[in-house]
Parts: sequence; C-alpha cells; structure tokens
Amino acid sequence: MADIPATAMPAIVLRRSNPVPAPTGGVLALPVAQSIMADVKTIAVMNQKGGVGKTTTTANLGAGIAMLGRAVCLLDIDPQCHLSLHFNVETADSPSTYDVLVEPMPVERVVRPLTDTLSLAPASVDLAGLETQLASVPGREQRLRQQLDAAPLPAEFILIDCPPSLGLLTLNALAAADEVIIPLQPHFFALQGLGQLLQTVSLVQERINPRLRVAGVVLCMFERITRLANEVVLDLQAFFEDARLHATPWSGAKVFESVVRRNIKLAECPSHGLSIFDYDATCNGAKDYADLAEEFLEMQAPVVAAPPAEQTERDAPDERTDSLTEPPRAQPPATAPGPTPEPLPQHVQPSPPVHGPPSADEHTS
Ligand SMILES: Nc1ncnc2c1ncn2[C@@H]1O[C@H](COP(=O)(O)OP(=O)(O)OP(=O)(O)O)[C@@H](O)[C@H]1O
Ligand SMILES: [Mg+2]
Repeated sequence: MADIPATAMPAIVLRRSNPVPAPTGGVLALPVAQSIMADVKTIAVMNQKGGVGKTTTTANLGAGIAMLGRAVCLLDIDPQCHLSLHFNVETADSPSTYDVLVEPMPVERVVRPLTDTLSLAPASVDLAGLETQLASVPGREQRLRQQLDAAPLPAEFILIDCPPSLGLLTLNALAAADEVIIPLQPHFFALQGLGQLLQTVSLVQERINPRLRVAGVVLCMFERITRLANEVVLDLQAFFEDARLHATPWSGAKVFESVVRRNIKLAECPSHGLSIFDYDATCNGAKDYADLAEEFLEMQAPVVAAPPAEQTERDAPDERTDSLTEPPRAQPPATAPGPTPEPLPQHVQPSPPVHGPPSADEHTS
C-alpha cells in the first residue's frame, strides 16, 4: 500500500517474500469449492469506531472457524486493506473488492485461497474513492449483495471486515449480511458510538435488508481487572437482556462469553502474514479466538425462534418513506448515549432502488 510509512515496511517486507498469488481462475480454483454451499451465512464485522479489533477479529475468528473444518471466506472492503495485509495479500496488479463494487465483477474472481478451508477477497486502496465514484449510481448500497446473490461463494461463512465508518462501504456490508458482529473495547468512549451503530443497523434492516440481525458484541483487548471493563460488560448484558422484550434487529444479540484478552501476539501476527493459530497456537490470543469460534458455531445451530409478530410485519418490504426518521425500539446501555431520535439525513439518504425493497443510501463519517 502506497500510504504505509516507509519506516514501517522493511521488517514486514523481509518476512513476506511469498505473497499469496493472484487468482488464476474462477470459482473452481478455490480449495473450498467442492460444492456451492446451499446456505452461506454472511457476517459483517462492524464498528464505526477505529482500532477496536474489527480486522483482528475478522482474521482470527474466520481462521478459527476454518480450523474447525468449516469453509470461510474473508472479505476485505476497507480501503486501509488491513485484513488483506494481515494475510500478505496485495492487489496492486490484480482485482480486488473494489472491482466487485465498481465494475461490477463476480466476487469469486478476486478470491484467493489461504488454506483448504479459508479464503480471502482482498481490498484495494482505490476503495477510498468509491463514495464519490458511485455518488449518482442508483442502488449503490446493494452492489455487494447483488454480486454475492448472483454467484454465491463456495463458503459456509463470509466474514466482512468493515472500515471504521458508517459510509457506503459499511452499508454495502450491512445490505449483504445476515448478521452483524460488533467488536468493542470495554470502555466508556467505545460505547458512545453504539447507539448510532445500532440505529444504522435498524435503518438498513427496515429499508433494504429485512433479514439483518445483530449476533452480538465481542469484547476485544479485554482487561478483566479493570472495574470499568466489568461495569461496561454488565451494562451491555443488561441492555441486550432488555432488548429481548422488543422487536429489534438486536433482540437476539448477546455479549459473547468468549472475550479476547489483550495479547501482544495478536498485534504481531499480521506482520508475519499469519493468523494467530499459525503464528502461536498456544498463546492467549489463539485460545480466545478458538473459544470465540466455537461459541459462534454453537450459535449457528439450526434452532430458529419464530420472530415476534411485530417483527414479521416489519420484515415485509417497507413502503413507508418516513421510516428513516424513526429511532430504534430499544436504547443502548446507560453508559452510552442513546441513538439520537432525530432523522439521519447525513447518514442514510434514500436512493432509487434498482429492484426489491426500498433502498437506503450512504453517508460520510
Ligand atoms: N486482543 C488484542 N491484543 C493486543 N492487540 C490487539 C488486540 N486486538 C487488536 N489488537 C491490535 O490493535 C490494533 C487495532 O486492531 P484492529 O486493526 O483489529 O482494529 P480495527 O477496528 O480493525 O481498526 P480500524 O478501525 O482501523 O480498521 C492493531 O494493531 C491490532 O494488532
Ligand atoms: Mg480494521
């Protein structure tokens, strides 16, 4: 990436003499392509706050699930390309998720195998210009979804690493996702954005993606000894407990019991192009993400509770034009300021849908 300070590069470059090769063919080139999976579950790993552990969680939760034998594709849509760099994948001369969103190009053409069960669709720094480039394109927030629907990837799980904003790229992830996982550092400021995040999820669920649900919050860089961390956890648990009584996209969400402790190995492994399991399988970081992967898969057991009646009604395509102005039905924890019950003209603007339910649009943040 051109904008990485030169001083940060030498050690990384030395350790990375064998970058992952660019894809040579279509979907059959992938190691996980024994068959197209009937039910692909797409998870957006999202938090508009920067540096909370989104990329680390996408990389290592994905690797953990893949180690349990499940086919996982990681999708990088962050112009910072951190997930791609984590696995030593560069896209200077090869297609990336930018091409998927702009051309549009089938996702399978940019996917690269990492292991037998893990693959990656890398990003490009060009994604930084996407909002401007697609500014007048109808349905621009549904481009990723359309590509994934048109040619499903041969994976059981797709994990999307979102950029730290609620802009067009994150909206594309939310429009394509079944579930949202929110990495969060348990301190006061980290909670501040939660209301806005949930409000965005709620708006996308109402306007363009009725199936969207929040799976839960993953506590990252956790230090159990701090009183504040424990208070934040209690607040979050109480909030999600209360949310069970209301029909919201997060009424089935939880705080994952598997917390990710602060562990320096997790910060080191990207510079070696490795997941935490390949870098140091015995460290606390590997244990925590292995536990999280197991807990995540347990949640995927095919026990699907019937949605509340109110939710079922809301799942129908929404013809209202004023729903963008409604606040979510449950408020985030007291520790965090709640979502502002005001319209979000700067965050989500309607745009003409290409097809299907009414469409939401992006904002800059
Ligand atoms: N549990 C952890 N222990 C120690 N360091 C961690 C841990 N999790 C993440 N880090 C480090 O913290 C920094 C931020 O993590 P990460 O890049 O995953 O956050 P992010 O939310 O993706 O950031 P951005 O918003 O910029 O995309 C990175 O240097 C990462 O290596
Ligand atoms: Mg990141």
